[in-house]
Amino acid sequence: MKVVSLLASIALGAQFALGSISGPIDKRESGIEPITVKGNAFFKGNERFYIRGIDYQPGGSSKIEDPLADTDVCKRDIKKFKDLGLNTVRIYTIDNSKNHDECMKELADAGIYLVLDVNTPNYSIHREEPEGSYNDVYLQSVFATVEMFAKYDNTLAFFSGNEVINDAPTSKSAPYVKAVTRDIRQFLRSRDLRKVPVGYSAADVDTNRLEMAEYMNCGPDDERSDFFAFNDYSWCSPSDFQTSGWDQKVKNFTGYGLPLFLSEYGCNTNKRDFGEVEALYSKEMTAVYSGGLVYEYTEEGSEYGVVKLSDKEAKELSGYKALKDALAKTKSPQGDGGYNKTSGPNECPKKNTPNWDVDNDALPTIPQLAKKYLTDGAGKGPGLKGGSQNVGTKSSSTATAGSGSATGATATGTESGNAAAGLRAPELGLAPIFCSLVVCLSMVFGASLVM
Ligand SMILES: *[C@@H]1O[C@H](CO)[C@@H](O)[C@H](O)[C@H]1NC(C)=O
Ligand SMILES: *[C@@H]1O[C@H](CO)[C@@H](O)[C@H](O)[C@H]1NC(C)=O
Ligand SMILES: *[C@@H]1O[C@H](CO)[C@@H](O)[C@H](O)[C@H]1NC(C)=O
Repeated sequence: MKVVSLLASIALGAQFALGSISGPIDKRESGIEPITVKGNAFFKGNERFYIRGIDYQPGGSSKIEDPLADTDVCKRDIKKFKDLGLNTVRIYTIDNSKNHDECMKELADAGIYLVLDVNTPNYSIHREEPEGSYNDVYLQSVFATVEMFAKYDNTLAFFSGNEVINDAPTSKSAPYVKAVTRDIRQFLRSRDLRKVPVGYSAADVDTNRLEMAEYMNCGPDDERSDFFAFNDYSWCSPSDFQTSGWDQKVKNFTGYGLPLFLSEYGCNTNKRDFGEVEALYSKEMTAVYSGGLVYEYTEEGSEYGVVKLSDKEAKELSGYKALKDALAKTKSPQGDGGYNKTSGPNECPKKNTPNWDVDNDALPTIPQLAKKYLTDGAGKGPGLKGGSQNVGTKSSSTATAGSGSATGATATGTESGNAAAGLRAPELGLAPIFCSLVVCLSMVFGASLVM
């Protein structure tokens, strides 16, 4: 009794002391408050949070570098992020065998959050052959990344996949993307980690964007996402809310039950003035959208960068000032921006070939050999070496809705096994799975076509 009441009074005292200094009781060592989801919006404590972000992958998709593993690199760039007025960066690839403590602390000190893609070029779902690539070796890498980054208060979100579906036929891979999302959320719960929001980043294709968004938010709670994001290059300055079609994208997503944001934006067809920034953070959009990420920080040959790296220096290009000015003159709306407090699931989209080629709502069960990671942890990440697409043991059955675990006799079946590896054809291109649309286009057609 005594001990209990003593502890209680210490706790009360501490709350009081902290409360009187900073308001929120939950004062953290990192000095940065984790972002949470309420309704269809993000929140920082009781305040609506809008992503004012940039996509950050020096080296591009051809020369993968982990900018958070090198303190000199991240410190150089964080200065610029602050100067630009950003609060979020997105990284497409990190090396999960390396340490990221220092750079994550530097980001936290600057008030900057991270949206992280958990896939890497060689550890990802293969859009043409998703079944074999959804295996235990793949999930070990994903879980290692999740375990490493969930501990940082400024990890805002995980992307479970990026542009895996990029046309009508590849919608067949949607159940695998959704299964990975389910598994990451399950992993966070099982390992008692912070519930970092998990969601998918869709390509800028009209074909099945809405279906994918609905698909990721249908079914039982443990199969749904925490948010949805898509890439959008339809506002090419000079433009406006109607001309760009953004008014339709608000209309079509009104009533959608999850936070939404643009994971890439910044058309460069004409001279960039980032006129879309004002629209994105205006009340015309904030009831449905929570900001976005500009593509992209460094110039990688397709004229999207706002800085150019040379001799380890980041030199400002013309887009830099334009973006900085656009952000500076654009305040976020007062109050809650008109968000929808009563978010929830929607119906699953019906099969509608060719655009939406998903038979039903069933998901593959987590591969048997990956289950141990949920209890024992993922262990050390493999880094960027090797790969998962031709190895490992795949899922052997479909899951009971809402559980992730196998149903029926096939659950313990042996039809999976490593034999799968031998049957699979050699990989074609790996790169398009993780690259952004523009980067993919430039890799396929050469940079000139998309410039
Ligand atoms: C909005 O939805 C309509 C009807 O489903 C569709 O025809 C249109 O392409 C959508 N527009 C956008 C911008 O997504
Ligand atoms: C709020 O979200 C719910 C659930 O998704 C939806 O039914 C409702 O129509 C939305 N309200 C508005 C004003 O968008
Ligand atoms: C990635 O996978 C490809 C194809 O399997 C392989 O050739 C390459 O060496 C792998 N990359 C690394 C860094 O191991």
